[in-house]
Amino acid sequence: MNAVEIEQAITSLANAAFDRENFPYDFLAAFGNKDTTLKRLRAGVSNKSDLGGVLQTSNIHIAVAPPGAVTITLAALKASLATTRYKAKFILATDGETLEAEELDSGDTIACAYPDFPDHFGFFLPLAGISIVRQIRDNAFDIRATSRLNRLYIELLKDNPDWGNAERRPEMNHFMARLIFCFFAEDTDIFRSSGLFTATIEQMSARDASNTHAVISEIFRAMNTAIDQRSQASLPRWADIFPYVNGGLFSDSVAVPRFSRIARSYLLHIGQLDWTRINPDIFGSMIQAVADDEERGALGMHYTSVPNILKVLNPLFLDDLREKLIEAGDNKIRLRNLRKRLARIRVFDPACGSGNFLVIAYKQLREIEYAINEHRDEKGRKSDIPLTNFRGIELRDFPAEIARLALIIAEYQCNVRYLGQREALAVFLPLSQDNWITCGNALKLDWLSICPPTGTGTKLQGDDLFAAPPEHTPIDFENEGGETYICGNPPYVGRKYQTDEQKEELQNVFRRRTKDTLSLDYVTGWFIKAVDYMNATDTDAAFVTTNSICQGVQVSALWPAIFAGGASIRFAYLSFKWQNLAANNAGVTVIIVGLSMKKSMRRLYTVTDESTVNIVETHNINPYLVPGDNVFIVPCNQVPDERTPMQFGNHPYYANELMLEPEEAAALIGEDTRTARFIRPLYGSKEFISGNPRLCIWITEDNLTCAKAIPAIWNRVEKVGRTRASKQKDIQAQKLVATPYQFRDQYEAENSLLVVPIVSSENRPYLPAGLLPSNAIIHNKAFALYDAPLWNMALIASRLHWVWIGTVCVRLEMRFSYSNTLGWNTFPVPTLTEKNKADLTRCAEDILLAREAHFPATIADLYNPDTMPDNLRTAHDHNDEVLERIYLGRRFKNDTERLEKLFELYTQMTTRQGKGKHHD
Ligand SMILES: C[S@@+](CC[C@H](N)C(=O)[O-])C[C@H]1O[C@@H](n2cnc3c(N)ncnc32)[C@H](O)[C@@H]1O
Repeated sequence: MNAVEIEQAITSLANAAFDRENFPYDFLAAFGNKDTTLKRLRAGVSNKSDLGGVLQTSNIHIAVAPPGAVTITLAALKASLATTRYKAKFILATDGETLEAEELDSGDTIACAYPDFPDHFGFFLPLAGISIVRQIRDNAFDIRATSRLNRLYIELLKDNPDWGNAERRPEMNHFMARLIFCFFAEDTDIFRSSGLFTATIEQMSARDASNTHAVISEIFRAMNTAIDQRSQASLPRWADIFPYVNGGLFSDSVAVPRFSRIARSYLLHIGQLDWTRINPDIFGSMIQAVADDEERGALGMHYTSVPNILKVLNPLFLDDLREKLIEAGDNKIRLRNLRKRLARIRVFDPACGSGNFLVIAYKQLREIEYAINEHRDEKGRKSDIPLTNFRGIELRDFPAEIARLALIIAEYQCNVRYLGQREALAVFLPLSQDNWITCGNALKLDWLSICPPTGTGTKLQGDDLFAAPPEHTPIDFENEGGETYICGNPPYVGRKYQTDEQKEELQNVFRRRTKDTLSLDYVTGWFIKAVDYMNATDTDAAFVTTNSICQGVQVSALWPAIFAGGASIRFAYLSFKWQNLAANNAGVTVIIVGLSMKKSMRRLYTVTDESTVNIVETHNINPYLVPGDNVFIVPCNQVPDERTPMQFGNHPYYANELMLEPEEAAALIGEDTRTARFIRPLYGSKEFISGNPRLCIWITEDNLTCAKAIPAIWNRVEKVGRTRASKQKDIQAQKLVATPYQFRDQYEAENSLLVVPIVSSENRPYLPAGLLPSNAIIHNKAFALYDAPLWNMALIASRLHWVWIGTVCVRLEMRFSYSNTLGWNTFPVPTLTEKNKADLTRCAEDILLAREAHFPATIADLYNPDTMPDNLRTAHDHNDEVLERIYLGRRFKNDTERLEKLFELYTQMTTRQGKGKHHD
């Protein structure tokens, strides 16, 4: 069951008469438990309660209490041995009048009247395996409202299929935005009389819903008719009492989809929610899923937490404002100047979705303004901060509409909070005509016309606020002396996932800057547009983005263009997880990058855990987000010194029949013992890390004649030949038809074989390179060093190499993805003396011996950061000690210092070779 279905089920349960006998089962059914599970509980087979209630193992212990004894029953549930033994996560007691529950891990409790328990819907969601971030969970209203709007949306599309097609979808979405506004307005006295909208529909529309659409349409018409035009409008009396709202929201067509009986009842239900509790930060993000066929049902997936948004806004401009507030103290003039400054700050999010960055920015500025007013003894003073200073571009029409609504609601709520409801109401209607959120493609639109430089512009007032203005049309925005901050979380879209149009848009944005847009993520287009904008007006920008734009090949494709535009990195947050649902732990790994044209101290933020952030100050942040001069690591085809070349393992090229699982190999030998001499262990990264090699048939020219004589082998060889022959368009496969007894590549070691996995978990504190038996074959899913002196392994297994690879190579989410050309051949190593090499060889041997001591533990076991054996840690630590002394004469203090040194050495190395690319 998804969250929407659960909300529906618990609402029905709470509305029905309380059934003492069945409540626990009905409750569990509402959270998606299957009939068979409930049957077993009822029969007592799986019910572990020691209190006559129902205890589902690892889930919940429920007891129906005698009347008035809910609290005492909850205490008994808590004290129950079975609760602990069977690991209940929740306890719940109810007598049908009240309900109390506790989540045992967190100690969070709820106590409410029984019919209201669905209001605590978020609290119980983990029972259905849905764990959500606290902010959503604590805002049950937003979840319930979204859930109900969801149902209405689906029901209306059922009754009006034409409203679901591409042409009418925007109209449908516009209709939903109007409804949301009406629900909010009727509960906040904006419509003067509480519940007016819902009550009017209930009274004036027939029970069979046949004229619901007509009634709503008349109400909308009233809201679009100015008071002085009402007499000509011949509105029915019951519609005439609605105020004039417009502001674009009710202009144009007042067409309303037809309602079924069910849709009407859904509508009335939604009206019964308390819309004063709407939270525009969250609601907007959630509600946009309603209009998205794929996302509907996954409530809150799009929610971006306020702390994460503040990671962008605080360093971008809010921290500075707060500092200025403190500095101003009680100095009235300085406070007034700061207030003036606030009123001229524009925030521009060119991928604004439902406007959450803008809403948070608005609310934060209002808070600072209020603090100023308090210090100046002007508490009731109206705000100087115009909502029109918060501008956005959004591709999809529904989020764009919701963004504007969310801002309107945020403004109203701030007014109520800081000025009181009377004042808030007095300034609310009619809504302003100004256009702040443009529905369009940010990579095609001219940002300067949507958010023009200070003090210029011509007036554009749309009849319909949500229609995109023509491209390049300047919009009025007098803001002499003001500042603009660009922010947001634009779509990341890696190259593989970009549509042809998106690729073309990116090419256009990068035109005359770089031809190499092939590797770039779509998000990079926003960076370039921001730099162009920054060249026209005094602006700083900060975006959330995938970390890949600061790793690997994207660095040299993107960053020269940004630096050439005059911008540099003012601050950055190093990789952290941007989680939506707590359950979705995979999340995306993001960084935040702030750009500026101005010189100032640069700041690098590292999120160490949820509550701690480390800050490093530096004169410059390079495009790999390392303190130090700008430098670009360019892939290199050769090792620059005495190190052994590292190459991909052998590519089989359709030689699947030559690769064997252990059982297949055993069967082959069982069939003909002569096969044994042709069978060799085969390692890719996975096989090496898990200690589970596969096997392969390895035939060289020397023993080809013997191999031909063994049918068990030669049958397989012939199959390889046939497969390669069938790949007619593949020239390489065709060439290899002549040698079906071999992989494409034929590299093998004579004496010693080092393996380096390609992908390795970032949680391992070292890159787990290793020594394999010299007869082993390395598959192309790992790198190999053939007959390399062991000191090479000491380099690869060092912390220095770990930080280098983690920084300059691409990461797959957070996992390391090794590259020989970008990671090994570029790794700066000081000239090693014979003594150094001997010392490092010993270090590598010690690491291997330390591993050996735990035989048969695998690399995965040994390098699990929680259980890594002490002797292995010590061996690595010693290796680091020896190597770092070679680099620096002492240990490095931390990874930042390691990287600073490595970048410095890289610069020296490439300058010597005359091929480094450096940019100031
Ligand atoms: C990752 S979301 C961020 C939205 C919002 N700030 C949030 O945190 O939920 C990116 C937004 O960019 C919008 N978008 C995608 N391509 C766009 C384009 N070319 N121009 C403008 N907006 C775009 C998407 O529709 C989406 O709403």
